Amino acid sequence: MKKNIIYLDNAATSYHKPEIYYKTFAQLNLNLGNPGRGSYKSSLEAAQSILNSRILISQLLNSPDIENLIFTPGCTYAINTVINGFIHQQQFRDKVANVLVSPLEHNAVMRPLFHLEKQNKVKIHYLTYNLKTVIDFQELANFTQTHAIDIVFINHVSNVTGQIIDLDLVRETIKTSTALAVDAAQSLPYYRYDLKQQNLSFLMIAGHKGLMGPIGTGVIYINDEWQNIDPLIFGGTGSYSDNLAMPNYLPDKFEAGSINAALIGTLGASINYLLQLNLPSIISNQTKMAYNFIEWSKKIGNQIQLFGIDKNISITNYQKNYMPVISFRLTGIDNSNLISYLDENYQICLRSGLHCSMLTHKNLNTLNTGLIRLSLGHFNTSRDIEILCNGIENFLKTQ
Ligand SMILES: Cc1ncc(COP(=O)(O)O)c(C=O)c1O
Repeated sequence: MKKNIIYLDNAATSYHKPEIYYKTFAQLNLNLGNPGRGSYKSSLEAAQSILNSRILISQLLNSPDIENLIFTPGCTYAINTVINGFIHQQQFRDKVANVLVSPLEHNAVMRPLFHLEKQNKVKIHYLTYNLKTVIDFQELANFTQTHAIDIVFINHVSNVTGQIIDLDLVRETIKTSTALAVDAAQSLPYYRYDLKQQNLSFLMIAGHKGLMGPIGTGVIYINDEWQNIDPLIFGGTGSYSDNLAMPNYLPDKFEAGSINAALIGTLGASINYLLQLNLPSIISNQTKMAYNFIEWSKKIGNQIQLFGIDKNISITNYQKNYMPVISFRLTGIDNSNLISYLDENYQICLRSGLHCSMLTHKNLNTLNTGLIRLSLGHFNTSRDIEILCNGIENFLKTQ
């Protein structure tokens, strides 16, 4: 990508990346062998690079053990591993699994579940959307008490509205025996998980968004209680090779095939960079910039509509309940006209469409129009928001 663009699509993938990302990738890509497959230097270095990254992600999440963290080629892969592993357990051989989903789930969760529902392996139960807390916690309590829910899926931070679901309240509300799987694609590194304390069953992570690692990286945290689920794929691990069965210990059980040490090592370099920073102050700054956009939108009046947010929200409530992702539409104007104008005239990168989340758009009533999404990241400045607002005002003058 060109350096002089105004990149406002960080919920898709982060850009720019820290200098150390580019340096590490160039170096590892040139030097690493296949991890865990040889005792020569480049293979050992590849294994070491993966180990370092596992330690760093474990620090970020306060994981009980580094071995509970599995590297995957992305968050979608992580989610599919969890869904398929969970649903294909022995206990569901002759029984449909009851799955409860939050109202703003991404297609990465909904499509595999829908596929399994068509095969009568799963029954999906839906929670209704509410603007204030996303989930109605009373409804969540009723659901888990009156239906035998086996697993709850929570999209912790919506990739469309930026709304944060109160995860601790979810855990308190559902039975301790109910599995809880959390899609953390949009929450890291700013939400600080504490996996030693939080009793989450599964956490599915994207390496390339807020963590500023490369596309093609993801992580699953699997709580010890669930380590018996089957892997998604089977194959060589460089360990236990005299046996046709997969190793039954973590992380090898879930890391079949040659895993990409250069990408994972680069993810580690970005996480290490982030761990040195004052993350609360950075997110406070980003949400402040997003809030400036909300304030500006009030000036534009009913020519612009924001979704999943009350324009009159206070900055304190905004910073407590949202990550800096805002979806909007100009009244009566095709989204693509505005984003092409902003791209051509200001080199602004914004995404329009349905953001891979049919359920969210259904709940926001925007399936037929889609939305334009603004998502801030580590390298945005308040100047970027000023240019965006100015660009939209100039666009409106052309209409
Ligand atoms: C909420 C959410 N879940 C899952 C994903 C899938 O992530 P990945 O692109 O790493 O597969 C995304 C990506 O946009 C997302 O926003």
